Amino acid sequence: MIPEEEVEEKIRRIAARISEDYQGKVVHLVSVLKGSVFFTCELAKRITVPVTMDFMSVSSYGDQTESSGVVRIVKDLDVPLEGKDVLVVEDIIDTGRTLHYLMNILRDRGPASLRLAALLDKPDRRVVTVEADYTCFQVPDEFVVGYGLDCAQQYRNLPYIGVIESESK
Ligand code: IMP
Ligand code: MG
Repeated sequence: MIPEEEVEEKIRRIAARISEDYQGKVVHLVSVLKGSVFFTCELAKRITVPVTMDFMSVSSYGDQTESSGVVRIVKDLDVPLEGKDVLVVEDIIDTGRTLHYLMNILRDRGPASLRLAALLDKPDRRVVTVEADYTCFQVPDEFVVGYGLDCAQQYRNLPYIGVIESESK
């Protein structure tokens, strides 16, 4: 769906905007495992203001295809967010349930600022309002993989964004 060069070019542009927006500050990247690790690394490498990073892992209660919006923290952050300029880095905003819940949890921890960067956005699927401050691509309502995104834990390592073609469709 999106070739590697296009993804990297877009990340470069987003990183430039972030570098400008956070002039004189330290960006504290909060990467949501595991899907956003590739995006986080590529983004972090291209940000020119000081960067610190932390990781968390959440699991959303629900069935295979639909998240419930109730999020369990599987691995929490190592460092408190209080006073930090936090930029949450996510792979994709789908229904928005996971991020809506997660952003509220993080906001309660008292960061100086809290923003969201998403590699992909599927606006057609949105159930709960979530606005990313930085989005690389909007994608149609199709199941995408690669660049960190998985299907049953596979395909995360694809260097581009691909679509799973289902035979039943
Ligand atoms: P939400 O709570 O529905 O927004 O769920 C978002 C999460 O669902 C993402 O962080 C992904 O882990 C997963 N997800 C949603 N759509 C896709 C997709 O097309 N491919 C891979 N994972 C997806
Ligand atoms: Mg995810």
